[in-house]
Parts: sequence; structure tokens; C-alpha cells
Amino acid sequence: MTEKDLDEVVEVERQSFPTPWSKGLFAKELGIPFARAFVAQEKDSGKVVGYLCFWLVDGESHILNLAVHPRRRREGIGTRLLAFGLDYCRGQGVRQITLEVRRSNVKAMSLYRSFQFQPQGVRRKYYTDSGEDAVVMGLDLEKEKFPVIYEPPSQGSKG
Ligand SMILES: CC(C)(COP(=O)(O)OP(=O)(O)OC[C@H]1O[C@@H](n2cnc3c(N)ncnc32)[C@H](O)[C@@H]1OP(=O)(O)O)[C@@H](O)C(=O)NCCC(=O)NCCS
Repeated sequence: MTEKDLDEVVEVERQSFPTPWSKGLFAKELGIPFARAFVAQEKDSGKVVGYLCFWLVDGESHILNLAVHPRRRREGIGTRLLAFGLDYCRGQGVRQITLEVRRSNVKAMSLYRSFQFQPQGVRRKYYTDSGEDAVVMGLDLEKEKFPVIYEPPSQGSKG
């Protein structure tokens, strides 16, 4: 993610969350040395269709933001973004990854579970907009016996 992506990132953000991050907040993230932010772009147009933001501190990572444009959901883009982020973290020697997710957000929880994230606890009334609880989910990369490595379907496959 770079400055030039931010207008499109914010467009996706506004359509994805009840209390969206502002453009300024994303810009601030880009300036934080331990923050990482990646976008998924359409091949032909280069348009931003999703993004992933996380922090890396002392061998731990915290996922702060993940979203896919509503028109492009359920196409595997969230899976590919998360798989990329996890690979990046493995490459950086990260041991633990955590995140918070709204208790009602079954889509996101199901995505995280597919990468073996486990619920670790609940932060009561964590979200100030709705008073909803957050479920804390974590993945211990050191204990991964069978890491979920995403392999995109091959073009020629009939399966
Ligand atoms: C969560 C989100 C990023 C998923 O992105 P996506 O590109 O649609 O995800 P994928 O197509 O890769 O789907 C991955 C898995 O997520 C789960 N999932 C995604 N959409 C779902 C839905 N509508 N219902 C149930 N499960 C769903 C499924 O397990 C799915 O795997 P499957 O298709 O093999 O069943 C997207 O729905 C989104 O942007 N939501 C709003 C923002 C948000 O909630 N972000 C997470 C904050 S913690």
C-alpha cells in the first residue's frame, strides 16, 4: 500500500466497516516503521479491491485491518491476502499472530479458522460504536504442524 492507493483503500474501508478508518489514519500507518500494509489489485485496471494491515513487534504480529470490496467478496481475495500476510510473517520469524474480530462477524472468523487461528478469549464491549464484544483469535506459527499454504488453482485445472 502506498499513498496513491489511499483513495481506493478508503472507498473499500467505508463499505466494509461501521466505523471506518479515515484516509489520514491509513496515511499514518504507512509512516509507522513496524507497520505493514498490502493491497490486492485488479490485474488489468490496477484498482484496489482489498487490503491487509498489520504490525510486527518483537516476533509478534497483530492484524489490524483486512477488507475486500463488497463486489469482489467470496472470490478468494481475502484468503490470498491473509495467506500472503502469514507467509510474510513466517519469513520475518514471527512466532505469534493475534487479532480481534466482532463476535457477530462469522465470515471473517470462518476465514481465520481456515488458517488455524483459534479463539483465545473475549474483550467485552470492545467496539465503542455498537458495544459489541471482540473475540481474540491467535495463531502460533511455532506450533504449526501443517501450515496452511495457499496455492492458487492452476489455470489449466478442470477440477
Ligand atoms: C472477511 C472478508 C475479508 C473475507 O474476504 P473474501 O475475499 O470474501 O474471502 P474469501 O473469498 O477468501 O473467503 C474465504 C473464507 O471466508 C469465509 N467466508 C467469506 N465470506 C463468507 C460468507 N458470506 N459467509 C460465510 N463464510 C464466508 C469462508 O470460510 C470462505 O471460504 P470458502 O469460500 O471456501 O467457504 C470480507 O468478507 C470483508 O471484507 N468483510 C468486511 C470487513 C471485515 O469484516 N474484515 C475482517 C475484520 S476482522
